[in-house]
Amino acid sequence: MDCHRQFEPNAPTMEREIFGDGHGDAGGKDALEKFLSIDREITRHNGLYYGENAPEISDFTYDQLKAEWETMLAAHPRWIIHSQQSPIGDDRRRGFSKMQHRIPMLSLSNTYGREDVSAFIRNVRNCVGDSVTFAVEPKVDGLAISLIYDGGRLRHAITRGNGVEGDDVTRNVLNIENLPKEIPHIAPLEVRGEIYISLEDFARINEGRSRDGLDPFANARNLAAGSLKLLNPDRARERHLQFIAYEMGIYGENFPDHVAVLGAIASLGIPTNGHWLADGDGAVWDAIVRCREGRSRYAFAIDGAVIKVNGHVHRDRLGSIASAPRWAIAYKYAPDRATTRLLAIKLQVGRTGIVAPVAHLEPVELAGSTIQRATLHNGDEIARHDIREGDTVTVEKAGEVIPAIVAVDVHLRPDSSQPFIYPSHCPACEEPLYRFDGEVAWRCINPNCPPQIIRRLEHFASKGAMDIHSLGGQRIALFHGAGLLDRFSDIYRLHAAPLENFPKLGKKSVQGLLLAIEASKERPLWRLLHGLGIPHVGAQVAKLLEKKWPTMEMIMGATLENLQNCDTIGGTIAESITSFFRSDSNRQLIDELASLGVSMGNATDPSEIRAPSPFSGKSFVITGSFQAFTREELREEIERRGGTVRSAVSKNIHGLIVGAGAGGKLVEARRLGVETVDEAHLHRLLSESTDKE
Ligand code: IVH
Repeated sequence: MDCHRQFEPNAPTMEREIFGDGHGDAGGKDALEKFLSIDREITRHNGLYYGENAPEISDFTYDQLKAEWETMLAAHPRWIIHSQQSPIGDDRRRGFSKMQHRIPMLSLSNTYGREDVSAFIRNVRNCVGDSVTFAVEPKVDGLAISLIYDGGRLRHAITRGNGVEGDDVTRNVLNIENLPKEIPHIAPLEVRGEIYISLEDFARINEGRSRDGLDPFANARNLAAGSLKLLNPDRARERHLQFIAYEMGIYGENFPDHVAVLGAIASLGIPTNGHWLADGDGAVWDAIVRCREGRSRYAFAIDGAVIKVNGHVHRDRLGSIASAPRWAIAYKYAPDRATTRLLAIKLQVGRTGIVAPVAHLEPVELAGSTIQRATLHNGDEIARHDIREGDTVTVEKAGEVIPAIVAVDVHLRPDSSQPFIYPSHCPACEEPLYRFDGEVAWRCINPNCPPQIIRRLEHFASKGAMDIHSLGGQRIALFHGAGLLDRFSDIYRLHAAPLENFPKLGKKSVQGLLLAIEASKERPLWRLLHGLGIPHVGAQVAKLLEKKWPTMEMIMGATLENLQNCDTIGGTIAESITSFFRSDSNRQLIDELASLGVSMGNATDPSEIRAPSPFSGKSFVITGSFQAFTREELREEIERRGGTVRSAVSKNIHGLIVGAGAGGKLVEARRLGVETVDEAHLHRLLSESTDKE
């Protein structure tokens, strides 16, 4: 029996005009040209995914491209000499020392088709017999890591790299809270698994970013990969990476099967992936469906199910091909897609002047919500794929990623359609657009461009910065249009008379607005620093600055060297701060704000000296939902009172704050004997300590 015939899943069966022309002769020059163009495209996407952790397309679209590449290669095997592909990608980066894998770290064959899963099962049975059993487990959407324990201690953590050699990321992995650094096992042992950021932490990090006026991270997987490769372990620690094991490398041969391996890993206190055991096609498929249905119960993103042969003897007989074992296959869940019409491509000017193209769509149902907008990334993307207004397009939403246009149906293109010409001038102020070295985005650099002014003011007044209730985007645009608001200082020059003349702005709401503006004058310095919109200075950096230099005068007086010498502030941030305060107009703005009564911090602010609070110096985990706060607000309340909030329950935390609908974390806290605090108790604790604002 031929056990070693390569198992080749079929190409995903979606339409194939996914950004390709679909033309060309079968095996001639055109076909080779097309193969090479796909090959180049794959190389580019590999670089974005593995090298920069910033993919432009979903896994599904990538897999389609790869499947087309494989189909062409199967028909013309000699074309491999022209290809730039390594069989499993490469995540190695400069700045890390390299380490060889004792057992190569392979990837998995992927499929989106049920037929392919059945063919895999048939193939396995033909090879090893019908007694084979399969383990089906969630495919965790993170990044693979190999952990080497020796003498009972975690010695090395190595990324997959190119499968043969990976980056040594031990320093960052040692910060992962849910991973034991010591285990009751002396012999060398290798545990393989996935590093991820929980969906909850991902949402928290992105909320923080949008408050800081930064673009959100595209997905949890890439954020985890980027965080693991941060050269500063303190910054990596803030991202709350987590680990889950799914295989053993070295030492795994001592166990009869996969289930025994998972049991042994769990008995060492290392978190393991769950699994279903299945004996044939029907049971495997049931497990795949159950895994998909239960997706929302997992803390991490799941992009499919992995089907593995359980017995090690069977695995050995099946062996591997260059890039993947023959004893496992990944069934990936296709992302949600819908077809609609691209009504218009509009350009949006952001706070920092970036002019970004946005697709306005005929409303369409997608993944449970109505989609009217999709990202078009940048002008190069539009040109490369010749996306035109009026086109019938396929929109895709993969996981938490912002909806994107992934295909154009050129056959349905109206005769009158014209290629989209990216403007050379700002759509708002008509000044020329610029593109700086190394950037794909076009920018309007006119500081007086109206939408930039409005967005800057909006950011200044926002909840995460000066927190001026009732001064939102619409009112700002209204007041700006009437010539009342231009600079941040104008906010503090507003007075009742002209405002009361605006329709819909009665005496009462004007009064409320002016009171909110007045109250904002006393905000802590970090809020003002953040609100100013200094590039790279978000809320976290602003808090650090305030801690070290508690008045604006002190910050403005700090030299580049002073700033660079501050542990957590790098060169880029330091440059950005000094160049901001070098500008005469920015210094004048600060003077104006100060003379209008806006607080510029206080070196001996009495409110800084806080009464001891039940939270100070203690760490907590928050779970479930609360009536009086969002989780983010609660986190701020605790931090203001000197506490810290962590993401994982461990015996080192002082308490678990439990809201409605709490689940796994509560169970874990009870198991570890960690104290729990319900919402009523929480309110009592909060009122025992006044907050500093
Ligand atoms: S087993 C020989 N099990 O998916 C490869 N991998 O797309 C053994 N992954 O490289 C891997 N969940 O990083 C395995 N339950 C799971 C997994 C899993 C996620 C990742 C892993 C692998 C990639 C392939």
